[in-house]
Amino acid sequence: MAYKRLISRRHIMRLGLATLSGIGVVLGAKKIYPRQQISSFSNQEKNLRRDFTVSGKTPLRNRAASKGLIYGAAGNYPALSSDEAFKKRFAQECGILVPENELKWDTLRPTPYIFDFSKGDWLAQFAQRNNMLFRGHNLVWNQFMPEWFKEVVNRQNAEKFLVEHITTVTKHYVGQMHSWDVVNEGIDPNHGNPDGLANSPWLDFLGADYIELAFRVAAQSDPKALLVYNEGGLKYDTPEHEARRTAVLKLLEHLKSRGTPIHALGMESHILAHETRFNPKKLRTFLSDVASLGLKIMITELDVIDQKLPADPTLRDRIVAGAYQDFLSVVLDEKATIAVLTWGLSDRYTWISRFNSRSDAATVRPLPLDSDFKPKLGWNAIASSFDKAPKR
Ligand code: G3I
Repeated sequence: MAYKRLISRRHIMRLGLATLSGIGVVLGAKKIYPRQQISSFSNQEKNLRRDFTVSGKTPLRNRAASKGLIYGAAGNYPALSSDEAFKKRFAQECGILVPENELKWDTLRPTPYIFDFSKGDWLAQFAQRNNMLFRGHNLVWNQFMPEWFKEVVNRQNAEKFLVEHITTVTKHYVGQMHSWDVVNEGIDPNHGNPDGLANSPWLDFLGADYIELAFRVAAQSDPKALLVYNEGGLKYDTPEHEARRTAVLKLLEHLKSRGTPIHALGMESHILAHETRFNPKKLRTFLSDVASLGLKIMITELDVIDQKLPADPTLRDRIVAGAYQDFLSVVLDEKATIAVLTWGLSDRYTWISRFNSRSDAATVRPLPLDSDFKPKLGWNAIASSFDKAPKR
């Protein structure tokens, strides 16, 4: 059942702004974004000319904090619990930690009746010991569910499983969480469902309102954590990303109109270095529309996939750094953006080496630090983006 179509505040605001903008042009210069493209190897001369110089070696967490922003990264138990040098660098650079996998259903729920918090607890304690914030990912998803899920969960017991999971997990970490990705990737217009909702057992069993239910249950157990709707595929000037932005805005407007306790949109931001269909103005308008709903914005899973770039690591690093700079210059211009997390910190530990490996089998180079934890130009690009960002 599709939720009701709303004449959203956004459309009314736009109508109003359209009237005012005539005056606006007279009263003050509008910020005009040049038609930038996320750097790609087709702009080699542009990438070779770009300047990524930053002053000093102040860690990213401190540069972000000086502007009222939070910087951190996804970390996982296998890497952080075994690699002392990495643990040290992570604590140095990151002001927030999100477990890459340890708070997902497939890790937390080895069986329908057992919760295993051991790895999540280790990461929570690591964050606390190193004066880092801690965020959870994710309470509700339609992918990578535990093996038993399909056999056990059905129309009759789905609500019980959803409510019990969210309640148990948020109560376990109450008081420790900066924020939770309550629902992850609930939109996919390609699936043909009403309102662009993604196929999901939760949608099948509970209908479109499973999303609102999830947020209400999470707020009941942890009234302090920021509750986030997390989504990917929102950044490019492509028909697919435009459709996703439209559907996400509609979902957020619907949730807000129902008084749902939702506080932020999480934008995953897995950038494809070879993608050039990037229109800063369109992305900036989307960010303003989200902010106009009274929501904050978190960049939750930033990295730059270099799978289709030339082999030369020097050129790759420049292109990756250019993509970081192009993207962050837009998202940090929106003061509702409160945090930037990269999906990993070092090329030694990235999902991309497994899920988006290169055909030439060269080591992938998507993250701010290389495999020996040394800063690359991508680190410079993120550092300079924080240095240039407006203070919150
Ligand atoms: O821990 C087991 C290991 O014991 C076993 O030997 C191995 C066999 O394959 O699997 C290991 O678990 C894997 C886990 O990553 C740790 O490496 C899971 O199979 C694998 O599915 C899991 O992939 C994660 C994926 O989400 C699915 O949960 C990636 O690491 C993680 O980076 C990725 O992150 C997602 C976000 O959650 C949502 N947004 C997109 C993002 C990238 O896909």
